[in-house]
Formats: sequence, C-alpha cells, structure tokens
Amino acid sequence: MATTFLYILSLTLLSLTSVSNACPPSERAALLAFKAALHEPYLGIFNSWKGADCCQNWYGISCDPETYRVADINLRGESEDPIFEKAHRTGYMTGSISPAICRLTRLSSLTIADWKGISGPIAPCISSLPFLRILDVIGNKLTGEIPADIGRLSRLTVLNVADNQITGTIPRSLSNLSSLMHLDLRNNSISGTIPGNFGKLRMLSRALLSRNKLIGPIPYSISYIYRLSDLDLSLNQLSGQIPASLGKMAVLATLNLDGNLISGPIPPTLISSGISILNLSRNAIEGYIPDAFGPRSYFMVMDLSHNNLRGRIPKSISAATFIGHLDVSHNHLCGPIPAGSPFDHLEASSFVYNDCLCGKPLTKRC
Ligand SMILES: *[C@@H]1O[C@H](CO)[C@@H](O)[C@H](O)[C@H]1NC(C)=O
Ligand SMILES: *[C@@H]1O[C@H](CO)[C@@H](O)[C@H](O)[C@H]1NC(C)=O
Ligand SMILES: *[C@@H]1O[C@H](CO)[C@@H](O)[C@H](O)[C@H]1NC(C)=O
Repeated sequence: MATTFLYILSLTLLSLTSVSNACPPSERAALLAFKAALHEPYLGIFNSWKGADCCQNWYGISCDPETYRVADINLRGESEDPIFEKAHRTGYMTGSISPAICRLTRLSSLTIADWKGISGPIAPCISSLPFLRILDVIGNKLTGEIPADIGRLSRLTVLNVADNQITGTIPRSLSNLSSLMHLDLRNNSISGTIPGNFGKLRMLSRALLSRNKLIGPIPYSISYIYRLSDLDLSLNQLSGQIPASLGKMAVLATLNLDGNLISGPIPPTLISSGISILNLSRNAIEGYIPDAFGPRSYFMVMDLSHNNLRGRIPKSISAATFIGHLDVSHNHLCGPIPAGSPFDHLEASSFVYNDCLCGKPLTKRC
C-alpha cells in the first residue's frame, strides 16, 4: 500500500517536473521552425538555439519563470550586445517570419528589429496571440498588409512596423486596440484614410504615421486621445483643414503635419497651446498667422514655411515665452518683422521668399 502510494507520488512529481522545468517540446519545435525560415550569416545568433530546453540560454528567448512557456522573442539587429562588438558590425538577416510563431500562444513580446533584409508578410495569425503586448518589427523589408483583425490584440501596447514596405490600409479594427500606447507606422506605403474612429485609442501617447500614402482628412476624433503627446502625420497626402481641437489637447507637445495637402487657416488654438514642436511646412495653408501668441506660447520649433500665408507677422508674437527655431519663409507675408526677445537670435533665412517683409534680420528696410 505504502509503496504503491510512494510510487504514484514519485510518478506525479516526475511528470510535474518534466512539464515545468523546460520549455514544452511543441514550443521548441515552433522556435526551430521560426529559425529555419531565417538566414543570419554574420553573427551566429542562432548558434545557441540547441539542446532540449529552449528556455535555457537560447539567444533572445525568455520564458515565463513559472510556466516555462516562451514569453519573449527579442532579436535586435542593432544592439550593444557583445556578439555585435565581437563581429564589428550590425546585424543582417534574410528570410521571413514563419507563421510557426503563432503556435507560441503565451508570447508576450515579439521583437525582430533592424535586420534590414527580412522580407515577406506579417503572418495574419499573429492576431490570435492573446497575450501579445509588444509587436516590434521595425527596419526590415516586410511587405503585405497589417493583419485585418489586429484589433483582437487587446493587450497590445506597442505596434511598431516602421521602415518596412507595408502596403494596404490601416485596418478598421486597429481602433479596437484599447491598450495601445505607441503606434509607429512610419516609412511604409500604407494608403487610404486614417480611420474616423482613431480617437478610440484612448491609451495612445505616440502616433507616428509619417512617410506613407495616407489621404483624406485628419479625423477630428484624434483630439479625444487625452494622453497623446506626439502626433506625426508628415509626408503623406492628407487634405482638408487642421481641426482646431488639436490645439486644446492636454499633453500634445509635438505636431508634425508637414508635407501634406492641408488647406484652410492655422487654428488660433495651436498658437496658445502646449505644443512646442509645430511643423506645418509644405502644405497649402492660407490666411493670416493668428494673432494669438502669449506667455503659453513656447516653441522649440515653429515651421510654417512653404504655404500660402499672407498679411503681417502678428505683433503678439513678441509676447511668446520662447521661439527657438522659426521659419515663415516661402509665403506671402508683408510688413515689418516684430522685434523682441523671441526674435533676436533668428536669421534672415527664417523670413526670405515672402512678398514684402521688411526690417531686421532682413536687409530690406521698412
Ligand atoms: C525607409 O525605409 C526604407 C526600407 O523600406 C529604408 O531603406 C529607408 O532608409 C527608410 N527611410 C527613412 C527616411 O527612414
Ligand atoms: C471592435 O470591437 C467590438 C467590440 O468587441 C466589435 O464589436 C467590433 O466588431 C470590432 N471592430 C472591428 C472592426 O473589428
Ligand atoms: C518641417 O518639415 C519640412 C518638410 O517635411 C522639413 O523639410 C523641415 O526640415 C521641418 N522643419 C524642422 C524645423 O524640422
């Protein structure tokens, strides 16, 4: 009786330890399938991917300490890791991201960044990984579209696909990513409009969409994103007017709308907001520079160049607390350039190519 009990007990312990002390064979197999689809010729980062336990010393892999399930894949082609210093070079990899990673159902972060040569699509099955918090594949040659049902990733905080060759549109479901804090789609070929319900991304603090092929208006709903501090929509083909509500956002500090087809006036709210980097250059913005500067106006950068602004530079601009870099060149401005401390350090290049501006620092007297 007692021996049977002990026998059963030891069997139970044995099976417990064998499930919980190493990564499950199925996850090891998924990682090996992932590795097989990639080719990394210079550093040998996959040399450590051997042995039964993928949780033990496999480069870039970490597991949950309790469940021994694979939790993180963290492979960066530009890093301070000794493996890079030894090789005296940054990483380079070709191949593609195998859909086998979708079998790692406890995956929390997937970072495959700056390998420059990885091509192929982001497997749509990615959106079935319920624990995924970070998806960072910046700096590769990925093609195809952002998975249509990406919005299912309710825990996703970081979505970074910048510097790839992603096409298609911003999926409508993206606005369902209620945990998303950091969205970086820069430098791809994403087309279509910014979804009207973009403002549902209530946790978003950085929205970086520059260098794509986005068209249509800037959705008014963006101004509902209370935590948004950095909005970069530059170098697209956005049109319509700048929503005045952008100037009333609580923490918006950087607003880059340069290099689009935006028309209409500059909302006065932008001038007396908390925005400190404002680039509206190279659009079709018209009307006057709002006479709305005051002590709240603190600009590291205010670039209004290459638009259709006319009239005078408003006198109130002298009341701004700080204007580090101002550029109003290539417009149709006229009249005397105001004097005052925010201006004293500016050079003529900030004011050239207007209709009839005069006074310091231009050589033309009034
Ligand atoms: C944009 O991405 C391409 C790769 O798709 C890269 O070669 C290029 O340097 C990137 N440009 C910028 C300005 O980041
Ligand atoms: C967003 O989530 C809601 C609620 O879960 C769902 O009804 C809707 O279909 C989702 N939208 C998209 C475009 O996936
Ligand atoms: C503003 O945007 C324009 C056009 O994209 C760019 O050339 C310029 O360098 C930007 N200005 C500043 C101060 O960064």
